[in-house]
Amino acid sequence: MSQEISSSRTLHRLIYASRQAFTPEMNPNEEIDGLIRASIRNNSATALTGLLLVHDGWFLQALEGPAGAVMTTYQRILNDPRHTESRVLSAGPASGREFGDWNMCARRVSAADDAILDTLSQRQVFDPTTLTDLAALRLLKAVRGIQDRTALSA
Ligand SMILES: Cc1cc2nc3c(=O)[nH]c(=O)nc-3n(C[C@H](O)[C@H](O)[C@H](O)COP(=O)(O)O)c2cc1C
Repeated sequence: MSQEISSSRTLHRLIYASRQAFTPEMNPNEEIDGLIRASIRNNSATALTGLLLVHDGWFLQALEGPAGAVMTTYQRILNDPRHTESRVLSAGPASGREFGDWNMCARRVSAADDAILDTLSQRQVFDPTTLTDLAALRLLKAVRGIQDRTALSA
């Protein structure tokens, strides 16, 4: 088996940050709901899982799955005019899925999300592009932890 084929089957994770770029005619909440619906539909068909954090004008998203699906999907997302200045914070093979319960779960940070806000308060101004790869993953895992508890208590 060539290395290329084997690497396309390996689990990969990509984390990127980008700025929201909604035009005045757009309703951001409706746009976000729409892109989540498309994500769940497309990601479930391509064995992708992940989490999207929506905070303070930013997106921070983890995508994990087969390398080919991760890269194809990220290329499509890159072309989406609803965000800009996308920057990859980490990309590469992963030993297991961190967000395996969701084809795409979105979380808007609210004041009640103490654990997330603790992590965010390390910065006066939230700017995910300054996060290291490990810090970005830690933040998204904190969000996942909150989401798990919310789902359990729902
Ligand atoms: C921040 C952001 C994250 C997105 N994440 C995903 C995703 O995980 N999966 C996906 O298929 N589309 C995602 N999209 C939407 C795509 O850019 C695109 O609109 C969509 O895949 C088109 O799907 P459709 O051709 O089935 O309508 C995202 C868009 C933005 C702006």
